[in-house]
Amino acid sequence: MKKPENQIIVIFGGKGDLAMRKIVPALYSLFVQDLLPAKYAVVATGRNEITDDAYQSEVRVAVNSFSAEKDKTRVNEFTETFRYVDVDPSIAETFTRLSSALTKVRSALDIASNTLFYFSVPPELYTAISDHLALAGLNAESDGWKRIIIEKPYGHDYESATALNVKLLENWKENQIYRIDHYLGKETVQNILVMRFSNGIFEPLWNRNYVHHVEITSSESLGVERRGAYYEGAGALRDMVQNHLLNLAGFVAMEPPSAMDSTSIRNEIVKVFQSLRPIRPEDVPRVAIRGQYTGAHVKGESIKGYREEEHVDPSSITETFAALKFYIDNWRWGGVPFYIRTGKRLPTRVTEAVVHFKETPHALFSQNGDCEGCNQLIIRIQPDEGVLLKFGMKIPGAGFNVRNVNMDFHYADFASERIPEAYERLLYDCMNGDMTLYTRSDAVLAAWRFLDPVIKTWDNNHDIPVYGYPAGTWGPDKADELIEEPELTWRYPCKNLADDGVYCEL
Ligand code: BG6
Repeated sequence: MKKPENQIIVIFGGKGDLAMRKIVPALYSLFVQDLLPAKYAVVATGRNEITDDAYQSEVRVAVNSFSAEKDKTRVNEFTETFRYVDVDPSIAETFTRLSSALTKVRSALDIASNTLFYFSVPPELYTAISDHLALAGLNAESDGWKRIIIEKPYGHDYESATALNVKLLENWKENQIYRIDHYLGKETVQNILVMRFSNGIFEPLWNRNYVHHVEITSSESLGVERRGAYYEGAGALRDMVQNHLLNLAGFVAMEPPSAMDSTSIRNEIVKVFQSLRPIRPEDVPRVAIRGQYTGAHVKGESIKGYREEEHVDPSSITETFAALKFYIDNWRWGGVPFYIRTGKRLPTRVTEAVVHFKETPHALFSQNGDCEGCNQLIIRIQPDEGVLLKFGMKIPGAGFNVRNVNMDFHYADFASERIPEAYERLLYDCMNGDMTLYTRSDAVLAAWRFLDPVIKTWDNNHDIPVYGYPAGTWGPDKADELIEEPELTWRYPCKNLADDGVYCEL
């Protein structure tokens, strides 16, 4: 793996949760693998006035608490490269401090002005930071590249995402804007491309002729924790579906790219999003179900309902569960339903995509066995990362009795390989100028355009129910009605990829 060019990494929101829990540990992992540039510095910014030393000790604590690396012996060496500058994103003048700090660090290191600016701040600060960087001339590429990483949420609907795009494009070119979706940094999501396009056996079946439906589940057992204020304005659809889960659907549904490069791959994702059949407002109650968790006793513990959470309106109608049925109108997927569901306070934390293949045209053995759950390919994104194929086999003995069996691969079987954290991969890519796993503006906008009718209908029609579901259950029963065929249900996954039958963690 090549080392990125010499550069400076600037983190806005350097003292925030995301910086400490994800960005700093990801940098440390790159550091111990010798994947950071030969010469670099990390300049963190924040509103508080603190010294470099004080910031470096916070970084040490962050690495020791949140890094998955076993080897923590190099933490002191790692933190030496960190500087801290107090910058108020909303005050243009404070950016001159950043500018002079960068000049100083660059001349000390004797490097060109390649700089990556990570916007690890609330979204309302994105345009101020962008404008103030430009005002200070820090977006100029005359003597080195400049890149910005923007976190989600990228807008809160189609209109605001378009406006944000226009605003950012005043100061940056599209190839300088890295819109991060940490799901694309997950090894198992990238593996969908390898599984599909490096094997001859799946692709011939991967279409409307053989696939009955596709199901994507991302369930979390935690509630909104301390993020009530953010979540109130977001909800499950904006928080998970618009970005992570539609991107996941994009990887499952895309055509083979003409080459494994950023433009070709991102072109294919956009084509999928552009083929999403628009949802008519009058169809929203039928194809989109929203829910909200209510208080319950889970495994002997009393769990609060969403409305009792900190910073949440006691009469809130924000959804903590969303389920959606949709179609991709193209030659490969015409008529194949896609189902997505996600929720907080469900029984377990699991994300998976399931391709349900069609049954045989004639049920030869139907009298002699039960093959419920056969013909499924399960791509497990997390945890117990892996792939599982479920199919029917003869039960030994007289007759032709059939039962479903599993053929499974677990990432843990790659014993020597550590699965890199999503942020580690994404930061490394951005440092190298590889945009493949970052979302292009046309894809972000197409995803918002698709979901806008659901968002607007939900926001404006309070008579569309927000179905309650007790914490620790699989969401509202109403979500089952999305799958219109009576003999089909959602798959109820366990934490362990290959466990079947009765729900296994209870
Ligand atoms: C974030 C959402 O983007 O993704 C969170 O804002 C969610 O609400 C998280 O919990 C899930 O990520 P992961 O990697 O734990 O599946």
